[in-house]
Amino acid sequence: MTDKPRVWISRPTFPGIVARLEPHFEVVAESEERAFNRSELAAKLAGQDAVIVGLKDRIGAAEIARAERLRIVANLAVGYDNIDLDALSAAGIAVSNTADVLNESVADFAWALMLGAARRLGAAERWLRAGHWQATEFKAWLGTDVGGCTLGILGMGRIGQAIARRAVGFGMPVLYHNRSQLPEAVELACHARHVDKAQLLRESDFLILTLPLTAQTRHAIGAAELALMKPSAMLVNVARGGIVDDAALVAALRERRLAGAALDVFEGEPALHPGLLQLDNAVLSPHIASASQGTRRAMTAVAVDNVLALFGHGPHAGKPPNILNPNVL
Ligand code: GLV
Repeated sequence: MTDKPRVWISRPTFPGIVARLEPHFEVVAESEERAFNRSELAAKLAGQDAVIVGLKDRIGAAEIARAERLRIVANLAVGYDNIDLDALSAAGIAVSNTADVLNESVADFAWALMLGAARRLGAAERWLRAGHWQATEFKAWLGTDVGGCTLGILGMGRIGQAIARRAVGFGMPVLYHNRSQLPEAVELACHARHVDKAQLLRESDFLILTLPLTAQTRHAIGAAELALMKPSAMLVNVARGGIVDDAALVAALRERRLAGAALDVFEGEPALHPGLLQLDNAVLSPHIASASQGTRRAMTAVAVDNVLALFGHGPHAGKPPNILNPNVL
């Protein structure tokens, strides 16, 4: 019988990185991806001192009810809408995320989606793979150049800023809307101008969403907001499903009130609104904006470092760097 504290990891990660926990903890890591229901999660959390979980693990008061020893929930994501922060804070459980290490990967992917939508990459590839390419046509598959178009960013945190910095190279002026305007020096570094939400919607040729999902941002883009956008505009969501009203988006895309969309996240994912699958003007990816080799390793390392640090070990001993509710420490 060991007296080491116990860590449960809810999904396969990178064993070489997780091994850093082993001198200090008894580690149990799931070897396969699976969705745990509420009672399974409650049973898994009971008796653990720390857990490393993912977005599909929803953790609130019911899941921690029997987790009397639990001191930290390390979320393998920057977004933490899967965690009821108030309930965990009330129970004195620290929560950490993986802020910062994924900014550049997500920004790259937002651009990949945007360029893919502008140049109709997904639809063209599906057409080619289906064996339709018999002759090269000068006027086939005409897309939209992004240069000179206005890039709008809704939610200008660190990911939004990384997206904006890339716009200089593409010759795109950047508008943004955020709860609070950024300091002038940051705006200058991003070549971005703050506008109100309605102006952002009206003037963006490409609108990228990078805001967190909260009760206030649910359906921040619904029928009314889509109606303000140019019919030639395209919407890119690398933030969270639920920020966009997917049914309203499907209707706007179908009726060509919006030219295109590129979506990495969906309401109710992994289930999709069935209308999306029928639309050739929607580029769809399975929530992989941060999924580069380097970034998923870095995210694992951040979660491990936060667990180690909370228990007084590792490079940040005693000072876990990514705690979202520092009042519990
Ligand atoms: C991914 O969606 C994340 O929040 O890190």
